[in-house]
Amino acid sequence: MARTTGTYELSTVAGESIEAFIPHPLPPKNPPIDLGGELQPLLARASESVRLLELAGDLVPSVEWFVYAFVRKEAVLSAQIEGTQATLMDLLEVEGSGEAPVDTDVEEVCGYVDALNFAWDHLGRADGLPLSMRLLSEAHARLLSGARGAQKQPGEVRRSQNWIGGTRPGNAALVPPPPHRLGELLSDFERAIHDESHLPPLVRVGLLHVQFETLHPYLDGNGRLGRLLITLLLRHWGLLTRPLLYLSLFLKMHRQEYYRRLGAVREEGDWEGWLAFFLEGVATVAEEAVATARRLHVIVGENRNRLLAREDTTVFSLRLFELLPEHPILTVNRVMEILDCSRPAAGKAVRVLEATRIVRPKGERKKNRIVVFDDYLAPLRQGTELGA
Ligand SMILES: Nc1ncnc2c1ncn2[C@@H]1O[C@H](COP(=O)(O)OP(=O)(O)OP(=O)(O)O)[C@@H](O)[C@H]1O
Ligand SMILES: [Mg+2]
Repeated sequence: MARTTGTYELSTVAGESIEAFIPHPLPPKNPPIDLGGELQPLLARASESVRLLELAGDLVPSVEWFVYAFVRKEAVLSAQIEGTQATLMDLLEVEGSGEAPVDTDVEEVCGYVDALNFAWDHLGRADGLPLSMRLLSEAHARLLSGARGAQKQPGEVRRSQNWIGGTRPGNAALVPPPPHRLGELLSDFERAIHDESHLPPLVRVGLLHVQFETLHPYLDGNGRLGRLLITLLLRHWGLLTRPLLYLSLFLKMHRQEYYRRLGAVREEGDWEGWLAFFLEGVATVAEEAVATARRLHVIVGENRNRLLAREDTTVFSLRLFELLPEHPILTVNRVMEILDCSRPAAGKAVRVLEATRIVRPKGERKKNRIVVFDDYLAPLRQGTELGA
């Protein structure tokens, strides 16, 4: 492939002179992206599966459940790519206790949930910020709001030269643009989001993700924010009206290929190879999300029927059941809060759900017991346990 995707400029970092990469503005030119050949069926399959996922979101009675779980699953997986050792269970347990996280790994995942909710909310509001560097920077501030992110200039575009991979600049996998070029390059980046284009939106999402990683606008968190950008762009172009598509599991499972493909765009101009990988990922992940949504729907329905069939079912136990998908792990104290009821009523509601085998106790503690909505969490936990 004869295409070049950028130029090089001499930059200095840690006393070393290095060639920093300056990507050309999107879309790729000379030649333009070839959407025929291998990409055609992949694009068709990815578009269709995203469409089905959007419909699956329409069909379920309470989409908040799914969104709640999917957002948290994504947060955990995205942070695990970075090496964060928190599982979905850790996150839910902290949230279920209603206490502030003490573990920095869990805190980091909470930052991701916060960043996603924040940006998603803006895109849905008439007076919200448009999808822009300003919005991304505000999301970044939330993403890195924990103890670990504090030294990494949360919310600010970097002012120093950095490099990715390798032990020193000289053997880095990528040396992104020097900071004085970022202003202009990030304006180009925003323009690529908002300009008219004849390219299909899913393809543009794939291009923009790579461009974001190549520019590496922040000192840290570029991977997580770039994955969040994928979700935001799907909303921006109206492909998904709920945050249900997440690539992190796919990228975590294919991390080596992911990095290699990113590098090949820069070094060989291979945008098509990246797009094939990306669209395959979108299709796989969307198909899995549809399957998970269906399974959760069936599980909730079956559990509800068992509960309704019992004679000792109380109003509080029914209300608690309906809230469980948003609180799949909780303590009796938390039950009192969300149902706004007395301790005996909360205790009884929990006991009924336990007797119905909807929740089970976690751990040994007798006071302020923790219970878990197991059936519901099982399909969601897939891939989020460490080592998975
Ligand atoms: N060779 C490469 N070329 C371009 N981008 C790369 C390359 N290798 C890694 N990256 C990108 O850089 C990201 C890591 O950057 P950074 O540490 O700022 O982000 P993070 O969110 O803290 O980490 P992570 O993505 O590991 O969770 C990777 O996720 C990937 O998207
Ligand atoms: Mg990092």
